[in-house]
Amino acid sequence: MKKFHSILFLCVLSGSLMLFFSCGKKTATEEEISQMKEEPKMDVQRQEFGQLPDGQLVDLYVLTNGNGMEARIMTYGATLVSLSVPDKEGNFADITLGCDSLEGYLAASPYFGATVGRYANRIAKGKFILDGVEYTLAANNGENHLHGGSKGYDKVLWQAGTIRRENEVGAKFVYLSKDDEEGYPGNLNCAVTYMLTDRDELKIGYEAETDKPTPVNLTHHSYFNLAGQGNGYILDHELMLNADQYTPVDAGLIPTGEIRDVAGTPMDFTIPHTIGERIAQVEGGYDHNFVLRSGGGELELAARVSEPRSGRIMEVYTTEPGIQFYSGNFLDGSITGKAGKVYYKHYGFCLEPQHFPDSPNKPDFPSAILRPGETYQTQTTLKFSIE
Ligand code: GLA
Repeated sequence: MKKFHSILFLCVLSGSLMLFFSCGKKTATEEEISQMKEEPKMDVQRQEFGQLPDGQLVDLYVLTNGNGMEARIMTYGATLVSLSVPDKEGNFADITLGCDSLEGYLAASPYFGATVGRYANRIAKGKFILDGVEYTLAANNGENHLHGGSKGYDKVLWQAGTIRRENEVGAKFVYLSKDDEEGYPGNLNCAVTYMLTDRDELKIGYEAETDKPTPVNLTHHSYFNLAGQGNGYILDHELMLNADQYTPVDAGLIPTGEIRDVAGTPMDFTIPHTIGERIAQVEGGYDHNFVLRSGGGELELAARVSEPRSGRIMEVYTTEPGIQFYSGNFLDGSITGKAGKVYYKHYGFCLEPQHFPDSPNKPDFPSAILRPGETYQTQTTLKFSIE
């Protein structure tokens, strides 16, 4: 009898334990579901992205806002790896071209999403004279210097940290570019700050200080496709450029020094046109610096792009006096990017706010020289909406 009671007791105990644990489990599942349904919130997280051949680790900063937008930036090249934005139906897509892994970026990247420096775009023959001294930079684009040289800021590891404010989150990336690096004079302390706001803006701020006079021109080099990365040509995107003039170039894409009116030419985007409408009339496609009406200094609207099917709109605001509009002419299908997408010619466009190309050799262009004691400070904001 006693034995029977103990068996009964054990059965009751195990039964209630089972019930207890299954109830516990049920509650956990409900929690998981409610977590899955949780509203997106403003946050910034650091993750590991990969490892450089020399063993250094590359981090990824993931910025999210309350509307579900997400920007991922890695410390290699202070590069925007992806930017997820909703369309008019509320469906999110990554609208920047790039690679799934660090290895992809190391193997072949035509500056996908990168921070470009010390001098964005071209310097003729890689030479300039500053205060009577001639400097020679790497010639990495035919006889010319492009985007900071063989190992520009897009190919170095930046140090980073997170930033959290009331209506925005972000990450600050810093890099010390040593005196004589790629031939440039002076130690340049640079910082790039990416902030994602609750107004669907990605704000990119640049700061630099030097100990010798040097040219500085930092920009952002994302290739955009507002229909989603890898989803076809950008030729049907509508573009407005807030520029009455542009700087014509020679065969090596070096400005001739002339500042020419866009009126009556395929370069006139003061009223929106699709990118493809007149591109056949522009030899090689668009790869030109536009002279912004603002003249630089204040944060003003430089460009507006819209994609008809998705309804996505991107506005570019900048304090820079110029913007390079590049229609992805050198993409040729040789790179397979994110999600196995192949990037063909005109699959992405770039809008690179900047000082004019070859300014160090063009005394009539706005000066791009930074001197000791001064602080280089520029700002570009990408603002997203739908129509
Ligand atoms: C810039 C230049 C282009 C090209 C790309 C990178 O947009 O103006 O000529 O070099 O970068 O491929």
